Formats: sequence, structure tokens, C-alpha cells
Amino acid sequence: MKKIPVILDGDPGHDDAIAWVLANSRPELDILAITTIGGNQTLAKTTYNAGRIMSLIGLDVPYAAGRSKPLFCDLIVAPSVHGVTGLDGPELPEPERVIVEEEAVELIARLLETSNEPVVLVPTGPLTNIASLLLLRHDLKEKIKHIYMMGGGITKGNWTAAAEFNILVDPEAADIVFRSGLPITMAGLDVTEEALVYPEDIERIKSVGNDVARVVAGWLEFFYQFHQPLGYRGAPVHDAVAIAAIVRPDILMTREMYVEIELCGDFTRGATVGDYYGLLGQKPNATCIMDIDRVAFIELLIDSVASYGKGELR
Ligand code: BDR
Ligand code: CA
Repeated sequence: MKKIPVILDGDPGHDDAIAWVLANSRPELDILAITTIGGNQTLAKTTYNAGRIMSLIGLDVPYAAGRSKPLFCDLIVAPSVHGVTGLDGPELPEPERVIVEEEAVELIARLLETSNEPVVLVPTGPLTNIASLLLLRHDLKEKIKHIYMMGGGITKGNWTAAAEFNILVDPEAADIVFRSGLPITMAGLDVTEEALVYPEDIERIKSVGNDVARVVAGWLEFFYQFHQPLGYRGAPVHDAVAIAAIVRPDILMTREMYVEIELCGDFTRGATVGDYYGLLGQKPNATCIMDIDRVAFIELLIDSVASYGKGELR
């Protein structure tokens, strides 16, 4: 089978971690590298977490630390959602691999340069690394096949009334990415808040019985504890939807849209303003995922953890 080369860029983070568990279990994906970004926690913490996740799932690829700060503003972190470590909950193995000396943007650039075919980027945190890459290495744009990203929301925000966390952390970076002309698939809150893992699904995941399943169930329990008092029926596994978009587009409902990033609004900075009805007459710049077959998504997650086999950590 011809594999799709992908680079996973995130700020793990419980849902980033589950996205990477899913990606690593899919035979059609060839993960070239993991890169990190400050977001859910500081860059040092998200990078350490990336190494721990890679040890858990036996992912042995280069990984690099990215930008510690947004392009023009101060970093916002989310300890209320992901804990002081950025990945509170079950115990994890220590990182086995050492991060490469290159910075994330340099590593991505080198991999794009040397790849025989265009590569898919999957950012699941603030878009600072991706925007920096586009600014610094415009010449490599044609080596980027597609960006599948988690961020934004056409109909709502989750960190302010208008803005979703990843976009709010670095709106200028998001603006650069959305204006790039590259094919973008946006897994925003419209769909990711429907990608809920219910308590009974968590039990099914736990009962798979291997170490990866137990840890994923623990992450979901931690994540649900934060979301339940806010009225969520389950844990929203936002970032995993970006991977589902690559491997199971058939379970998603999408709409092509022209999306602009609000940079200035007093109440709306970081909003992804989607022209749902095409009122502006602009060519769509994003495929926005609007809904998901939740049951099929849960089966996808269960198949993924089951693929790690029984028993010991890989
Ligand atoms: C996004 O923000 C982070 O907290 C999650 O990891 C996800 O990428 C959801 O708004
Ligand atoms: Ca994330």
C-alpha cells in the first residue's frame, strides 16, 4: 500500500495524544516526524509529553521542539483543561528518543525538501510553527500536499465567546495559514464538540485491556472530568478528528467555505469567520468539517487502541 507521508505538529495535550495514538495505528499513514509547539502548556512541557507519548506507542521517528511563543503576542496555556503537566492523568514511560538539534521548522523544512512527494501536515495546536515555515520557506509550499488542522469553529468559540483556543493563542499565525492558498481541512469546534467519547465508550476502550488502551481511557477520564461539569455528555477528542479526516473522510460532513481570521475585534479576536452562504463571493479557502458519524468515530478509536496488541508497552 502506498502510504501518505504526514508530519504531526501539536501541543500534547490529551486529545493531541489520542490523535497521535490513532495516527500511529493506521497503516496508510507514514509518520515522518513529530513537532511540538507551546499551547496547552509551555513548550518544554509539551515536548516532554511528546517524548512520553512516543515511548508509549513505540513511535520511533525524529521529533523536534518548535516555537515557544506566538508570532506577536504572549502565550496562553490551558492548565485548567490539561493539568499542570499538560498531560495529567495516567503514568507514562519516559522519553526514549532524544529530540533532534534542529528546531521544528528546520526539521519540517528538511523533510519537505528531501521528500519525493508532497507531505501532509497535521497541526493540532496553535499554528505558529506552520506559519513560520510558510514565512521562512515559501519555496517549499508546493511540497505541502494538504493541511489537516484542528482549530477554530464556524459557529462558536471555547476560550472566548467567539474564539477557539488554538486560533486564539496565535491568530496572526492562523491568518498566514488560511491566506496561504494551500488546501486546508479544518476540524473546528462545530464537529469536534460532536466527537464525544461517552463514559460507556471509555469503559469499552478500557476493556480492550492493553497498556495503550488503559492509558487512553485514563486520558479520556481526566478530560471528561473537566468537561462534564460544563454540560458535556462525553470527552471531546478534538484533535483526533483531524486524523479521522485523512483516514475516514466518509464519516464526516463537510462544507467548502471562505474563512477569515479575526485579528482586531474587541470581543472577537481569534474567531474563524466562515462565509457559510458565500456572501462575499470569495473562493473557498477551507474545507470545514461540520459533523461526524459519532458511533463510527468511536469504533475507529477502539480499533486503533486494539491494534496495539495485548500486554506490554510497545
Ligand atoms: C484545542 O485546544 C486544546 O486544548 C486541545 O488540545 C485542542 O487542540 C481545542 O480547542
Ligand atoms: Ca491540541
